Amino acid sequence: MIRNPAAETKTLSQRADELEEHMMHELDCIITKSVLFNMGDGKVEIENGPALLARNPGKFMLMGADPRLPRMPEKPTLLVYFRCRFASTAHLLQSATHALKAGLDEKIVLACLLHDIGVVSFIRADHGYWGAQMIEPYVDEEVSWAVRAHQALRFFADESVGYTYPEIYVKFFGPHYRPEPFIVAEYERARKHKYYMSARMITVNDVYSFDPKAKVDINDFTDIIGRHFRQPKEGLGLDNSPSSHMWRTIMWPTRFL
Ligand SMILES: [Fe+2]
Ligand SMILES: [Fe+2]
Repeated sequence: MIRNPAAETKTLSQRADELEEHMMHELDCIITKSVLFNMGDGKVEIENGPALLARNPGKFMLMGADPRLPRMPEKPTLLVYFRCRFASTAHLLQSATHALKAGLDEKIVLACLLHDIGVVSFIRADHGYWGAQMIEPYVDEEVSWAVRAHQALRFFADESVGYTYPEIYVKFFGPHYRPEPFIVAEYERARKHKYYMSARMITVNDVYSFDPKAKVDINDFTDIIGRHFRQPKEGLGLDNSPSSHMWRTIMWPTRFL
């Protein structure tokens, strides 16, 4: 049999589109994709409202919870996001466990626990910056500063604490990859900052290889979260902090507006 990979790909993507179309008809509301989601598929596109309405007569745009995603309670907490919106938590829990076993300050343990929430809930690119911004209103400035700075520091060795350039980065990015100039500049600024070592500890405890035997549990960290993460009484994402919209978007990512 002669196979045509290009045709197969086309068929597969057509099938995915059909499935999406089918699912949309099954749901009683119109679920939309933002430009960012489409850019992930290599398309700078957005479907306009009237076209969507015309294809879905009698239905309205989704303006709240997406019924396909895990249901969140009325007043979600950080732990709820861990359970319902973080695609993977093993790396975070292992890194925090590492920091806990090393006897580090609780604030650093929290920073390790949250350092990659940008990746697991939102977007990989610039994840340290996104993650720091998400938590900034709810944690001590040392914690969010450290999460932000780990974005740059992980590319640079610090022999004083035994941190070397991660071997996995050579595999990920190739041997010739060099960080962008803005990352180099960020690193140089961070080195002189009073919280440098807090951010450095994130990189030291960043566990790059997942150990399937390691026993990790978010419940081991509920006390530390309770002491160092200011949970808003309205629910995370429903309060009026400067980053609540980010949590809300993660809670309800497919709202029309
Ligand atoms: Fe990271
Ligand atoms: Fe990490």
